[in-house]
Amino acid sequence: MSQSTDPVGELHLRTQAFPADANPAGDIFGGWVLSQMDIAGAIYAKKRCHGRTVTVAIDSMSFIQPVFVGDVVCCYVSAHKEGNTSLAVKVEVWAVRENDTKRVKVTEGIFKYVAVDGNRKPRSINSKEVQE
Ligand SMILES: CC(C)(COP(=O)(O)OP(=O)(O)OC[C@H]1O[C@@H](n2cnc3c(N)ncnc32)[C@H](O)[C@@H]1OP(=O)(O)O)[C@@H](O)C(=O)NCCC(=O)NCCS
Repeated sequence: MSQSTDPVGELHLRTQAFPADANPAGDIFGGWVLSQMDIAGAIYAKKRCHGRTVTVAIDSMSFIQPVFVGDVVCCYVSAHKEGNTSLAVKVEVWAVRENDTKRVKVTEGIFKYVAVDGNRKPRSINSKEVQE
């Protein structure tokens, strides 16, 4: 996969990978990266949909390069596709290695969220969440 030079989207989450997030081989566990991406996508979706959303699907996920303990992990989110009650977003993860200033794209994926009302039922992404 070719390496682009700049992230696409807006920064929605920035954190650091800790030893507790590693797999038995010492690299960062893919499930930890995926959960950071889901959090970042959900922050974007909640704002766009004016209230609560739930994750309904992960349509694609590519692990491009490993994440290491100590990396600063940044999740960038952009709109991918809007439906009636659902919204798909692209999440790119870029890592800044410890003792380095250069960032590298490590992961990307498409996450889909559904806007829900107070009864957890789908609502238009353009409506405001109403507690029922
Ligand atoms: C998301 C949820 C509310 C959808 O309920 P539902 O009765 O299936 O709703 P609908 O059939 O009316 O579909 C609603 C939207 O979701 C989309 N959708 C539903 N199931 C989907 C799936 N498996 N994959 C992709 N999109 C899906 C539909 O295409 C529709 O989008 P649109 O309105 O933009 O066209 C329900 O499936 C749910 O609560 N899932 C659990 C969510 C969850 O716990 N997530 C993890 C923690 S946040």
